[in-house]
Amino acid sequence: MRSVMTFDTQVVPAAADAHPTPFLIVVVPEGPFPPSLSALDAASGGALARCYSAGDFRGKKDETVLLYPEGPRPRILLVGAGVPGEGSRTAVRRAAAIGAKRARITEVPTAALFVAPEARGPLSPTDVGQILAEGAGQGAWYFAAMKRPPEEKKPAFERIDILAPADAEAMREGHRRGAAVSAGHLLARDLQVLPGNHCPPRKIAKMAEEMAKRHGHSVTVLDQAGIEKEKMGALLAIAQGSVEEPRFIALEYKGSDAPPIVLIGKGVSFDTGGISIKPAQGMEDMKYDMSGAAAVIGTFEMLGRLRPALHVVGLIPSAENMPSGSAIKPGDVVTSHLGKTIEIVNTDAEGRLLIADALSYARRYQPACVVDIATLTGAITIALGHTAAGVMGTDAALLRDLQSAGQRANERCWELPLWDDYRDLNKSDIADVKNSGGRPAGSISAGWFLREFAEGFPWAHLDVAGTAYTEREDAASPKGPNGMGVRLFSEFLLARA
Ligand code: BES
Ligand code: MN
Ligand code: ZN
Repeated sequence: MRSVMTFDTQVVPAAADAHPTPFLIVVVPEGPFPPSLSALDAASGGALARCYSAGDFRGKKDETVLLYPEGPRPRILLVGAGVPGEGSRTAVRRAAAIGAKRARITEVPTAALFVAPEARGPLSPTDVGQILAEGAGQGAWYFAAMKRPPEEKKPAFERIDILAPADAEAMREGHRRGAAVSAGHLLARDLQVLPGNHCPPRKIAKMAEEMAKRHGHSVTVLDQAGIEKEKMGALLAIAQGSVEEPRFIALEYKGSDAPPIVLIGKGVSFDTGGISIKPAQGMEDMKYDMSGAAAVIGTFEMLGRLRPALHVVGLIPSAENMPSGSAIKPGDVVTSHLGKTIEIVNTDAEGRLLIADALSYARRYQPACVVDIATLTGAITIALGHTAAGVMGTDAALLRDLQSAGQRANERCWELPLWDDYRDLNKSDIADVKNSGGRPAGSISAGWFLREFAEGFPWAHLDVAGTAYTEREDAASPKGPNGMGVRLFSEFLLARA
């Protein structure tokens, strides 16, 4: 059930005025008519110059105008990228996504995409090739696999040609990277969007196995019995309320003999809250509670396509959090994989239990570092809104690298402090630790809980509860899953290759 399975991008060494296409997207900077578009304007009966001289299009960020000139390019969409500069990476990627989304909605089978040189600012041709592939995929993605097909079959959106009249080789090199990142990003969104009944833990495991098989990654899936044998008491405690069995997925890509970077993704296929049940309002969004898992699987798709000189392990603890006669109850105490005991005071603080066991499991790889990604706390949205993920951890260099990767990827993360003062929030009366520290500093106490289980390696935690999906449609994306984490992890990993 993949919506854009056939969608692809390619670099074509052609000028915008020489490439026939039903839909030409032109990314322009803020300001007057860009001289580099003169030939295209001449080939389009002066439509561009007319548009600019009318004075109502300035190329501001998100500004678009659709022209219908005569000739072999019946539609030209100008998309503004704002003033070129430091933010051009994000602005040009976004403009490409806006163009791709418009082309998809227009129901053309193919489109072409050109960035006026004046709009590129400090970006190299390699950068441009990468971010155009990323942006095009982002905008083209749409999920219709669960709607009844229309009577009249419309052609799928197949391809965007990225036009490179100059520097085609450098653009191609960047494009190779961007296309791999984009494939991972789209796979993540395809996984995220699946409802709980279509994607329980065993299905998440199956999707991970299929992806691993495609790329020759090694993959191990522990079922209920395997997880019991490993004594992952925290993961088991959450899973016990559901008829769906848990899974623990371990992926490995070994492009080098170095100690691995371990990525852990929260894979709660649906989070009702359990006995500490959530309110009905908006609960359907809890199908996205496996977004961390989707980010890890998407990252391995990217690794399989690029095959960089890196050693990466991906761990996904997966369960469905349900209330039932067999569910854990507030006050229950369980023994984690690490051996620490946990008092479960709130069954809705389930994600940290899954990640805790995965952190403990990660020790066997003697990792260079461990990064977990999880839709962990509603409190992170109160702190940072939908603009940035929270990041916290034990290693300053790791935190810095994640933040700069997030900046390049436009999947930004902002550090919250794990000061010792916050540790006491998780103090339990009867066990080693309790699983909720209450409302104040809710994201930090969740981080501190994880820290209790991150023994023996540099570690960082990304809380993406506010950034993994959108509640509203945007010019660059439909409402819903946005693949958060794949671009960030790609930038983070490839900078270390
Ligand atoms: N999956 C939720 C966090 C979440 C909230 C993700 C909103 C996306 C949007 C998590 O399991 C959870 O329920 N956290 C609780 C923790 C609390 C009980 C300490 C929360 O944030 O309310
Ligand atoms: Mn929860
Ligand atoms: Zn959850």
